[in-house]
Amino acid sequence: MTPPLIAPSILAADFANLQRDIELLNDSEADWIHVDVMDGVFVPNISFGLPVCEAVNRHATKPLDVHLMIVQPERYIEAFAKAGAAHPDRPGGITVHLEACPHLHRTLAQIRETGCRAGVALNPHSPVELLADVLDNIDLILIMSVNPGFGGQTFIPHTLQKIRKLRKLLAGSGHAPLIEVDGGVGTDNAAALVEAGADVLVAGSSVFRATHPKEAIHALKEFNPSAPQA
Ligand code: DX5
Ligand code: ZN
Repeated sequence: MTPPLIAPSILAADFANLQRDIELLNDSEADWIHVDVMDGVFVPNISFGLPVCEAVNRHATKPLDVHLMIVQPERYIEAFAKAGAAHPDRPGGITVHLEACPHLHRTLAQIRETGCRAGVALNPHSPVELLADVLDNIDLILIMSVNPGFGGQTFIPHTLQKIRKLRKLLAGSGHAPLIEVDGGVGTDNAAALVEAGADVLVAGSSVFRATHPKEAIHALKEFNPSAPQA
């Protein structure tokens, strides 16, 4: 089994030392930099928006994985693509929530037009089958393993079953979007998530609250199914 891609979330970084924390990620085994945008409407919390994404982009050497937890995300796709997600040398992705997109098919096309990977996130209550008719248009499916809005929440165990179900759905479909998991991910559940079928692990607290964040990233990446899990 291939090791997962690791996307540390800067939501858990020290915003007063953002450049330092981005440089730490540049110098680590992280594959992407996960950028959590919250509007206080789609989710109960406000995080940051375009200026912070631009600032991250100025220092990052890795692709930006922008997760839009906002209503009407179609209004901001172009702007976040320009703010770094569609960087020509390290193109990243933009992920919108299914629950925020009445015209998901059109929104996904809009993301792909910018040169970004088009992602769809599912809240814990949204069944994977809801994506069956747009699989052709999706490059990444983000399974929320907490209710979006805050870092540091407890992983919802049902997520493992949901990932397995999604794997089955994809196996019979002829499509192979990446499966990403977000919320409460750490070394205690990383191996189980990869075994269930996750390709990308998002990790906020378990990276930035660790004494040695680079080692925490290494531990998440070093997937070894035979190793006993802590
Ligand atoms: C939650 C965000 C997550 C969050 C994860 O709404 O989408 O990306 O930063 O944080 P942890 O890893 O602390 O659960
Ligand atoms: Zn996220």
